[in-house]
Amino acid sequence: MSNPTIVVAGSINMDVVSRVDQFPRPGETVHGSEAQYMPGGKGANQAVAAAQAGASTRMIGAVGTDGFGGQLLGAIEARGAAVAEVSVIEGASGLALITVSETGENQIVLCAGANGKVAGTEIEAMERLLGEAGAVLLQNEIPWSANTSFMRKASAAAVPVIYNPAPAAKLDAAILPLIDTIVLNETETEAITGIAPEDDASLRSAAEWFLSGGIRAVIITLGADGCFYQDAGGESCRLQAYRLQPVDTTAAGDTFIGAYAAVRYGGITADASPQAALRYATAAAALSVTKLGAQASIPAMADVLAFMS
Ligand code: ADP
Ligand code: NA
Repeated sequence: MSNPTIVVAGSINMDVVSRVDQFPRPGETVHGSEAQYMPGGKGANQAVAAAQAGASTRMIGAVGTDGFGGQLLGAIEARGAAVAEVSVIEGASGLALITVSETGENQIVLCAGANGKVAGTEIEAMERLLGEAGAVLLQNEIPWSANTSFMRKASAAAVPVIYNPAPAAKLDAAILPLIDTIVLNETETEAITGIAPEDDASLRSAAEWFLSGGIRAVIITLGADGCFYQDAGGESCRLQAYRLQPVDTTAAGDTFIGAYAAVRYGGITADASPQAALRYATAAAALSVTKLGAQASIPAMADVLAFMS
């Protein structure tokens, strides 16, 4: 029997990045560095991360008929995730217009494009893939109506949903029982639960907020401070991040989530425990922050295993 598939339904964006000395004020024009075009989007990044961790991975989503659509599909496929179920929709692809200042801060304008049109066709694609799926990964860069449909379909088929509520939005209590594992960073945790994860007690309270709503496992990522895990069975652990000099933390969370899903639900290793998946995800995410870009910075399994040993 072949391994279960990791199905990622979500956004596919071109990140257009320019560096500026200072951000322009309203009405002002500033010069930026030569634009760089880097494939991104949380959905696509997570699909690449799962595929690079060794899982059989399929992407569901949409790109536009502009020049970027084909490039974006090619980039995902080149990193090992299948794109046969991605729709090509008349109009613009998803774009993230990113400016980075000299101090390393960024400003991002997200233009949904085709991501905003994910609907019925993609939900039918999900139905076709669920029979072989080990897990479904979702984020918040496609319409909420599509996300809830994906959750309902996966949950009805008893396929675990791993949900990354990013960018953060209010969570309807009715959908919490449809989610197996929620993975979110500190900002998202505070935006959704109102609890700022500052110490072990607040991390536990935030996790409890989700668990009491019917979610089975909670992973709170803490940037350079690692991550926290708690589940409905009472398991809890804290992992430290690797200490290294970050170059670009773009897609650290996406790398972590895709890698976690691959090890936990992709049928690729003997030890598919949450702890083993967290260890691999922590190493993969660490390597991703040592390189520029989103998808381009996601490490291959061989490099992660070498780094861990
Ligand atoms: P997001 O990118 O979603 O904001 P985080 O910043 O919490 O997510 O990062 C996700 C994971 O990536 C962390 O749990 C950690 O394992 C790893 N990570 C992030 N930043 C660093 C860093 N500076 N050094 C080492 N590991 C990091
Ligand atoms: Na990076």
